[in-house]
Amino acid sequence: MSMQRFCRVKMLLTIVITLFFPLGRATLPLVINTWPFKNATAAAWTTLQSGGSVLDAVEKGCARCEVEQCDGSVGYGGSPDESGETTLDAMIMNGDTMEVGAVAGLRRIKNAIGVARAVMERTDHTLLVGDSASVFAENMGFIAEDLTTNKSMNIFSQWLKGNCQPNYRKNVFPDPSKSCGPYKPGAILRQNKREQHTNTRSHDTIGMIAVDQDGRVAAGTSTNGLTHKVPGRVGDSPIAGAGAYADSSAGGAAATGDGDIMMRLLPSYLAVELMRAGADPSAACKAAISRIKTHYSEFFGAIICANTTGHYGAACNKVPGFSQFHYMVSNSESGAPLLKSVDCF
Ligand SMILES: *[C@@H]1O[C@H](CO)[C@@H](O)[C@H](O)[C@H]1NC(C)=O
Ligand SMILES: *[C@@H]1O[C@H](CO)[C@@H](O)[C@H](O)[C@H]1NC(C)=O
Ligand SMILES: *[C@@H]1O[C@H](CO)[C@@H](O)[C@H](O)[C@H]1NC(C)=O
Repeated sequence: MSMQRFCRVKMLLTIVITLFFPLGRATLPLVINTWPFKNATAAAWTTLQSGGSVLDAVEKGCARCEVEQCDGSVGYGGSPDESGETTLDAMIMNGDTMEVGAVAGLRRIKNAIGVARAVMERTDHTLLVGDSASVFAENMGFIAEDLTTNKSMNIFSQWLKGNCQPNYRKNVFPDPSKSCGPYKPGAILRQNKREQHTNTRSHDTIGMIAVDQDGRVAAGTSTNGLTHKVPGRVGDSPIAGAGAYADSSAGGAAATGDGDIMMRLLPSYLAVELMRAGADPSAACKAAISRIKTHYSEFFGAIICANTTGHYGAACNKVPGFSQFHYMVSNSESGAPLLKSVDCF
């Protein structure tokens, strides 16, 4: 083939590919969420297509995960705490008004993001926790149910049999690396490096961003937290700026991973502020991960970012067992949810 002919064929191919597979182009509306939780993406997309708002899309998308339990990290029947109970954390944020509704340590109610939205729309508060959040939910018409399943009971009893390993205690007696509790305060060890919990699958969370035709942004999260957590532990997911953030004048972001670490550096807030300052969404995501890396090089985590014109990106921290992060996108080019991946750095 002559060079000229080759170039012509290549150009034609490029045109054909762009016409028929115009994937990865920025268009509005946009739905993007963490992990390959495809049905959640589809639920959010369908909601937008049928006239729902970005808040409706984020709520319906995350709620789909709460029903399907996604990979066990969202909704009932997963991540039992030290006492065997599943509790839920969720938040939703309106990037137009900067209103946030969130719940943490929610007990006995399956639809955590629905309750989070009720906190936003039916109170002047931002975050309700624990049993009182459940009472609020019941008053608002949510049904109280047992969140324990055979599966979560099994995870719990296996853990008990294995001397309660792993757990998240330190500087206590008896030695938490060998024994179950109850624990009492022990000597504070000078060298207090946090143990690396390599079970990356115990940290997944759905985080979702939706942007409509007019650039309105909403974001939200839902999770059952960390398996074997100390009862009462709340991670990044229900904290605005940590688990997710939305601002219709800049963009949205949502994070997943080791929330105990990530919530200290407000990665979602940082990413949105960087996009406000003109950063490309991928670069903003990377910078938010880099910031955490400077303090905790071995943390497990990823973040998704989208700006108000529908450009998006993601980033993750490369650690053993986690070198690529998968996320989902639906926009008017792709329609159906599209699996995307990014190499961690
Ligand atoms: C996604 O939805 C389809 C169709 O409703 C269902 O068959 C499938 O089990 C769902 N996937 C998950 C992971 O729940
Ligand atoms: C849960 O376990 C009980 C008792 O072991 C059993 O009878 C029941 O069928 C199980 N349920 C499911 C959904 O597997
Ligand atoms: C969104 O990001 C893209 C890619 O960097 C950029 O071209 C576009 O101008 C950004 N949109 C806004 C509103 O800043």
